[in-house]
Amino acid sequence: MAAIPPSEAADDWWRSAAIYQVYVRSFADADGDGTGDLAGVRSRLPYLVELGVDALWFTPWYLSPLADGGYDVADYRSIDPAFGTLGEAEKLIAEARELGIRTIVDIVPNHVSDQHAWFRAALAAGPGSPERELFHFRPGRGEHGELAPNDWPSQFAGSTWTRVDDGEWYLHLFAPEQPDLNWAHPVVREEHENVLRFWFERGVAGVRIDSAALLTKADGLPDFVEGRDPHPYIDQDEIHDIYRSWRAVADEYDGVFVGEVWLPDSERFARYLRPDELHTAFNFNFLSCPWDAARLRTAVEETLAEHAPVGAPATWVLCNHDVTRTVTRYGRRETGFDFAAKVFGTPTDLGLGTRRARAAALLSLALPGSVYLYQGEELGLPEVEIPLHRIQDPMHFRSGGTDPGRDGCRVPLPWSAEPPAVEPWLPQPDGWTGYAAELQAEEPDSMLSLYRAALGLRRTEAGFGDGPLTWLPAADGVLAFARSEGLICVVNLAGEPAVLPGHSHTLLSSGPLDGGGRLPQDTAVWLRA
Ligand code: NOJ
Repeated sequence: MAAIPPSEAADDWWRSAAIYQVYVRSFADADGDGTGDLAGVRSRLPYLVELGVDALWFTPWYLSPLADGGYDVADYRSIDPAFGTLGEAEKLIAEARELGIRTIVDIVPNHVSDQHAWFRAALAAGPGSPERELFHFRPGRGEHGELAPNDWPSQFAGSTWTRVDDGEWYLHLFAPEQPDLNWAHPVVREEHENVLRFWFERGVAGVRIDSAALLTKADGLPDFVEGRDPHPYIDQDEIHDIYRSWRAVADEYDGVFVGEVWLPDSERFARYLRPDELHTAFNFNFLSCPWDAARLRTAVEETLAEHAPVGAPATWVLCNHDVTRTVTRYGRRETGFDFAAKVFGTPTDLGLGTRRARAAALLSLALPGSVYLYQGEELGLPEVEIPLHRIQDPMHFRSGGTDPGRDGCRVPLPWSAEPPAVEPWLPQPDGWTGYAAELQAEEPDSMLSLYRAALGLRRTEAGFGDGPLTWLPAADGVLAFARSEGLICVVNLAGEPAVLPGHSHTLLSSGPLDGGGRLPQDTAVWLRA
């Protein structure tokens, strides 16, 4: 059994961790049926150790009809048979831990699958039953109840209400297959605390909380009024009470939380990170920031400023299973809020995107706090335009086909230079095997080699991870900052090469320096002063 390095044994590992997101369905397919599985993850643990990550976050692996890629959970206490068994999950958690890698599971408290026992019972029990009180069932408006109970738009386009045969409507902020739970009900709260215990008892170190700011709804489910304060289903004050009780559960196990909290207001965001609530939350401002020095600097400054008063570490995320892959995003010249959104047929320069993604990797890995990597980011995978007849994401269908959906960042990873024997659940485009991990492992200039080197240094250099950051003077379009222990990161987004600080030597760079030792455009470097 490999010993856990001392830094990994620390209670505050999560303040500086590099956490790798595993989308199980597309990670590694051990049984050759075209779908990734837990046996596949177990077989690739040596790869993850070599990559140098501290923890794995598994997107939902529970029993699910996969109407929303597993974010429609039918049973939290069992693993979907397509992925494996509970026993295998337990083995995976234990094996990873022996190798110094912690596990984070994904809990989806806002909703369950329409195949969950509670929802089936609620449908069967009918209007007015206690079973329906676990959800938001309501009569419709209009003379015959033919109109939805309110006007809330779904996060996946369309209405948030679906009518059932007996005439009642139920609320679903996402797809109809994802009925929202009623968080005012004590049984809902109790069940989730038991689910947390169930997974902490199995050795998981943390929990990612899906749609963390959406659980509680305004009394009476009032109509949505633009600009209304507070919003009727986002960030209701009562939600903090839930997270305070969750924190008490987590503390019994030294477990940590990372919340999926998308909120534009920094002060409201920071409330989730008070010392008796969540440990961390994803930083989506950084993710959705275009490749622009001034805007990136502002995103970093605002992130650090909003976390400081509550003493929580920042998290840095460049991509995940919901947004356009980094090399594609950075290869698009347009900027704007929809930077991370999915768009059909946008012209993309992948060479440019790859250079920038390499620089962005060194930027994000040098910032104070923890960092999340999404599988395939370390291989520099681009977004894939999935043929229309193969798309599976409900977001695409619910948009009436205008939104490509999120499948383009969920294509199974290329491990080998040989194409897979069985067609994977999402098609791999021509040339995909050129990104294969086994090829990149041998190639010193590959994206994989860059990530390995950067994660290795991030581990051995105490100045990285949580701690202070000091901006250094730099030309327009250049970001330069110092961490402790003499570490410096410089990222050049300007049109001309940047002169690097004197009396320093290079630890790692995302691309070659020019003949004069200057940093070319779209390149980042780590230095030691
Ligand atoms: C956020 C998840 O990341 C996304 O994939 C999912 O569709 C929604 N929450 C609904 O659970």
